[in-house]
Amino acid sequence: MVDVSLDNLDAVVAQCVGAISDASSLDSLLSLEAEMVGKRSPFTALQKSLGSLSPDERKSAGAQLQAARQRVEEAFATRRTSLAAEHRIAVLEADRLDLGDVVSARVRVPVRAGHPGIISLTQESLEDTFVGMGFVVADGPEIETDWYNFEALNIPPAHPARGMWDTFYLDIGEPETVLLRTHTSPTQIHLMEEAVAQGTLPLHAVMPGRCYRRDTPDARHLASFHQIEGLVVDEGITFADLAGTIETFTRAFFGPDITSRLRPAYFPFTEPSAEFEITCTICRGAGCRTCSQTGWIELGGCGMVDPAVFAAVGIDTDRYSGFAFGFGIDRCAQMRHGIADMRAITENDVRFLELFS
Ligand code: DAH
Repeated sequence: MVDVSLDNLDAVVAQCVGAISDASSLDSLLSLEAEMVGKRSPFTALQKSLGSLSPDERKSAGAQLQAARQRVEEAFATRRTSLAAEHRIAVLEADRLDLGDVVSARVRVPVRAGHPGIISLTQESLEDTFVGMGFVVADGPEIETDWYNFEALNIPPAHPARGMWDTFYLDIGEPETVLLRTHTSPTQIHLMEEAVAQGTLPLHAVMPGRCYRRDTPDARHLASFHQIEGLVVDEGITFADLAGTIETFTRAFFGPDITSRLRPAYFPFTEPSAEFEITCTICRGAGCRTCSQTGWIELGGCGMVDPAVFAAVGIDTDRYSGFAFGFGIDRCAQMRHGIADMRAITENDVRFLELFS
């Protein structure tokens, strides 16, 4: 390093600052520091030599020298910070794990995400169809009392019609008073009670949900299954409204070449009652094994709400009339997708589940 004198301070500082910013490592910076501002450096020697000056000269020369030294020291501090940062980055780079292989392996194996099952999908599209026809969707409890599931629906205790529904009773309260609902019809009672209490009649609602029966599962029955119930209560409702609603729904849901027909039947909560059938979707009406060569498949029941049911919930039959219907969601899924055996729906075989993704 050149000699330092009071005359060339600026030039020396500039030279030092240049060398400092060129230093490429913390080690070389350390040796530069010793050389430039350490004990044996020209700066220190010059400082020592100031003792020979007069007090005034010493003061001003000392201040100049101190300022120059400070600029050099600041350059060291700045360079040290940036070299330390560069060093840290280099260490991180060296430690970096190459995840390239792992990532591309993941991309190659498709992620198997879940999706709604066939029943949920069918229920959603049934709801969409009915909403499109002006119905609202309502919910009801799966655990019911005897009153909602039977009595209010005009099925008193010991009525022979109870045999239509093999019931799971829960061991709560009086024997045979609390049960798993055997159909979605009790939700009708909840809706009518609520509408009467709140003065919100008329009613145009569908009520989907899970039901339970003590059935042995076979190709067409499950012990836990799903129904969708429909209820319209309004002024001047007739059987023609019921038949028109069933037909409109059938074509909207199954397609324009599928039609419906009603056949006389008996249900305690409707009078008159009917079973409704649709063109067999497997053979399109030509006759096949699924429809026992008739060309028709039974979907559910329907009818005009029985006055005894209106009486149970306090609806004035002079003013209101109504119709109701109920059918299996699982059966709809079976018909829409040609599922030969309903038990496939609950078996969770991935090959079956993936058919409807
Ligand atoms: N609840 C009946 C069943 O599960 C189906 C049914 C028939 C519902 C006639 C109705 C109806 O609303 O009017 O077998």
